[in-house]
Amino acid sequence: MRKLSLFIALIAMSGCLKENSTYADTKLIKKIGAQLKGSIILYNDSKTDKLVSPRTAEMSAVKMVPASDWTSGFYPGELWMMYELTKNEFWKENALKFTLPIEQEKWNGKTHDMGFKMYSSFGRAYFATKNPKFRDVLIQSAKTLATRFNPNVGCIRSWDFNSKVWGFPVIIDNMMNLELLFWAAKETGNVSYKNIAIIHAKTTLKNHFRADYSSFHVVDYKPRDWRSPKKQTYQGYSDESAWSRGQAWALYGYTMVYRETGDDKYLEHAEKIATYILNHPNLPDHKIPFWDFNDPKIPNVPFDASAGAIVASALYELSTFSDKGAEYLETANHIIKTLSIPKFLSEGGSNNGFLLKHSTGSKPGNSEVDVPLVYADYYYIESLLRRKNLIKIKKYMKKKTKY
Ligand code: GLY
Repeated sequence: MRKLSLFIALIAMSGCLKENSTYADTKLIKKIGAQLKGSIILYNDSKTDKLVSPRTAEMSAVKMVPASDWTSGFYPGELWMMYELTKNEFWKENALKFTLPIEQEKWNGKTHDMGFKMYSSFGRAYFATKNPKFRDVLIQSAKTLATRFNPNVGCIRSWDFNSKVWGFPVIIDNMMNLELLFWAAKETGNVSYKNIAIIHAKTTLKNHFRADYSSFHVVDYKPRDWRSPKKQTYQGYSDESAWSRGQAWALYGYTMVYRETGDDKYLEHAEKIATYILNHPNLPDHKIPFWDFNDPKIPNVPFDASAGAIVASALYELSTFSDKGAEYLETANHIIKTLSIPKFLSEGGSNNGFLLKHSTGSKPGNSEVDVPLVYADYYYIESLLRRKNLIKIKKYMKKKTKY
């Protein structure tokens, strides 16, 4: 039944991909490419042995971070996606220069951020080149990540800091690291990686969501009371609020878990999260969320363009699975259109080499508020890549209808 309605949805959806999308995207990709070429020169100059990747700009200067930072894989990932979009060797050569310095992270068991760091960089490197060395790095990364799984809790532990406050904190962002485990299970035949990912997704579905399908940020499963975990925030407005990027991670995460498992409960969950985000009265008409859906000072608060870009990328994928595909595709296009106007997309040579403006890292921590953030750019480019692949589906459908 799902398959038949999906086929009908795909036909309806193909109408939303306007004929001129390919042309418009080609122009946009050229514009982005010019900005990224400038950024490569700037970031190569700012790189040191220890500071290997750009994260944001502070006081008008680019902030480079060490390999251990959770964002270190995004910039190389952007360059790998440019290679995929253009097939120009220039991008591959430069992607390698920013990918190789983070290899050591495959041994770093002190964080859950393995998927963010390694799947975005070495993952894309492996898919583009099929170099077995990159495959080995990824498998070791999955092995290290799996050591953070606690079978009693049914989750991978997110953070080790703040241990006086939290016993076993799990943040909604952690859903994003599961893709590496699903991949490792398929690649090695070791189903325990997949089992860990599914158990984590199930436990998170049970404990991280409110009745309206918004997500808490942090759920603390203390060793002694893991059956009644404590629900809080770290980067949101309040424990009870819906921090925008957290909702975006949840949407993207459960869409991906559905892709990897084919289990309808995850598709339904992703659709419900989408409904929460897209119908929220505080979502502006241009569809880029404010940093938290429940900040009482809305509209006089900063946006989070990174949340918008993550939601767009998730919706492009969800549109291929859901009966509501046409609506999701239209909204994803709307978000990308907004992110591509001068208010959000920087002019060439400005913004310290970053593409998007107006993202927010941690408002409560007064850190990275209304700034460029590398992961906003990553998911913006991924959205364009996903849209390009949807255009391929459209061409295929057109060919099919001829017979
Ligand atoms: N994973 C950290 C963040 O979204 O800010």
